[in-house]
Amino acid sequence: MESQQAQRKNEHLSLAVKMWRQQQLKVIGAAFEAVRWVPNSLPELGEEDITLGQTVAGLNFNWPFYIEAMTGGSNYTKEINGQLAQVASETGLAMAVGSQSIAIKDRQATDSFKIVRQANPNGIVIANLGANHPLDHVLQAVDMLEANALEMHINVAQELSMAEGDRTFYWLDNLANIIAKSPVPVIIKEVGFGMGTSSIQQIAALQPAAINIGGTNGTNFATIEQARDLQNSNPIDFSHYGFSTIESLLAAQKAQVTVPIIATGGITKPNDIITSLMLGATLTSSAGYFLSTLVTQGPTGLYQTITDWQKALPKFMLALGVRQVNELRTVPRIYNPDLQNFIQQL
Ligand SMILES: Cc1cc2nc3c(=O)[nH]c(=O)nc-3n(C[C@H](O)[C@H](O)[C@H](O)COP(=O)(O)O)c2cc1C
Repeated sequence: MESQQAQRKNEHLSLAVKMWRQQQLKVIGAAFEAVRWVPNSLPELGEEDITLGQTVAGLNFNWPFYIEAMTGGSNYTKEINGQLAQVASETGLAMAVGSQSIAIKDRQATDSFKIVRQANPNGIVIANLGANHPLDHVLQAVDMLEANALEMHINVAQELSMAEGDRTFYWLDNLANIIAKSPVPVIIKEVGFGMGTSSIQQIAALQPAAINIGGTNGTNFATIEQARDLQNSNPIDFSHYGFSTIESLLAAQKAQVTVPIIATGGITKPNDIITSLMLGATLTSSAGYFLSTLVTQGPTGLYQTITDWQKALPKFMLALGVRQVNELRTVPRIYNPDLQNFIQQL
């Protein structure tokens, strides 16, 4: 019999997959399609001129996207982590694991995370913990994976949506301490509710390696927690709360921070990656879509999807006339009226 926390991991996974498969994802705020790319009819470039690598905090990412934090902690999620890591290794993608808090409480759960490093000995592997974890947990989490970086997740709306979730959130001092003392670069990340300008500025002031604005329109943890709460013991609805990924990227632009921004939330195609990079993201990542592809089509299907994206990205960059990922920020774009209105109010 697995622990309650391990069962929660399985439930998160199966509910997330179900919502992606049944297209039950809520649309909150501007979708990627609200940003149109101005065509460039004379790129004066060849595909061989294009490079896709990005360096963040001294880490060289081969691609401007990676597999975002999802899981670990149970037998089933060990299998999923092993498969994700195998595909990450074969495609040269970085990969983050789900929260390792369960493995810090229960050493038996460590295997379900360690498998990620075993399957991908030379790749970029990113550890993950909640924002309230102290430094000694961080050291254990990084050590468990020989991690190259660490994500500390901030997830107020998820905790408040969860019947058994936290109700107290004093995180800034702890995060400052972790950022100062972590042996690897620290990314502060949302889990799919997005971020506003002030929050981005507050986090940037702590000088993390990167901020992942983790926006809406993909995996929606408010909906997942509602589905888990069969007794309706925590009747609250955050399922329409938050900023979408592109809205959060615009909030990050307004915040005028120098910390690299990572875009996650609802990325389902290489076009969404390009749009996110145009709006100032240094890297992007995808969680639920990759997971549902893996569960429905197996590792071969996920491999195919990722390699399709890897082939499409340089072609889009070629069409837009840019050689390097960061040059996408200068590509002219048109915002739809709702997004224009959002920008004005921001
Ligand atoms: C099944 C599942 C479990 C997740 N668990 C974690 C977690 O433990 N830690 C974390 O930081 N984010 C977690 N996330 C959130 C993702 O990393 C990501 O921020 C969010 O799903 C939005 O991206 P998406 O729309 O591409 O799924 C999880 C997502 C899924 C689908």
